[in-house]
Amino acid sequence: MGKVSKLKLAVLISGGGSNLQAIIDACNAADYPAEIVLVFSNQLDAGGLERGRKAGIRAEAIPHKGYPGGREAYDAAVSTLIEESGADLVVLAGYLRLVSESFVTRWKDRLINIHPSLLPSFKGLHVHQAALDAGVKFAGCTVHYVVPEVDSGPIIAQAVVPVLPGDDAGKLAQRILRQEHRIYPQVIRWIAEGRVSVDAKGIVTVADAPQADFAEINPALEPG
Ligand code: GRF
Repeated sequence: MGKVSKLKLAVLISGGGSNLQAIIDACNAADYPAEIVLVFSNQLDAGGLERGRKAGIRAEAIPHKGYPGGREAYDAAVSTLIEESGADLVVLAGYLRLVSESFVTRWKDRLINIHPSLLPSFKGLHVHQAALDAGVKFAGCTVHYVVPEVDSGPIIAQAVVPVLPGDDAGKLAQRILRQEHRIYPQVIRWIAEGRVSVDAKGIVTVADAPQADFAEINPALEPG
């Protein structure tokens, strides 16, 4: 049998890159249907760049501060890098920068993000504190396609995390992060396997997703 080609990923980060690491680890499994061809950051000192380099992946940074021509010009340069890398899918993993509408259009249906809340609740920043302040009993994380409106776009997967007595934003963030590390590689696998589709209303269906996939994502919930 011929070698099956893998989905090529460009992962965009701004910080420590623990989600990037989860994706790197997933890609190390021989049967995982995706590979990272580029790690990119808008911060020269993003810890995730080193994680990429250690894994033998091309890692590049272009500081956004002071970039001539503003956001559009910056995003055009980022797009060029991604194109040159041959990536099929752009994965935002803690990329703390608003992307321009033309960037979203350029990568339409090939651009995903992870956000540490159960969207559409708690968009934007400081979401763990916002969830605690609202007194919700369950928080979580969402992987979604990116549209011009921030933290919106078709929802592909979510994981639910209970809010526990004594939680502060840091503790809750850690518990949610552990689920982020599970669902992001899972969603990338689904996309690579061609099982994810979006209808005209923006509702996502994952074809032939075994019940076990969902049970694994929401371990607290009974399957069925
Ligand atoms: C994650 O909580 C992610 O949901 C948010 O930014 C954080 C990035 O963390 N968008 P890391 O850099 O992957 O550790």
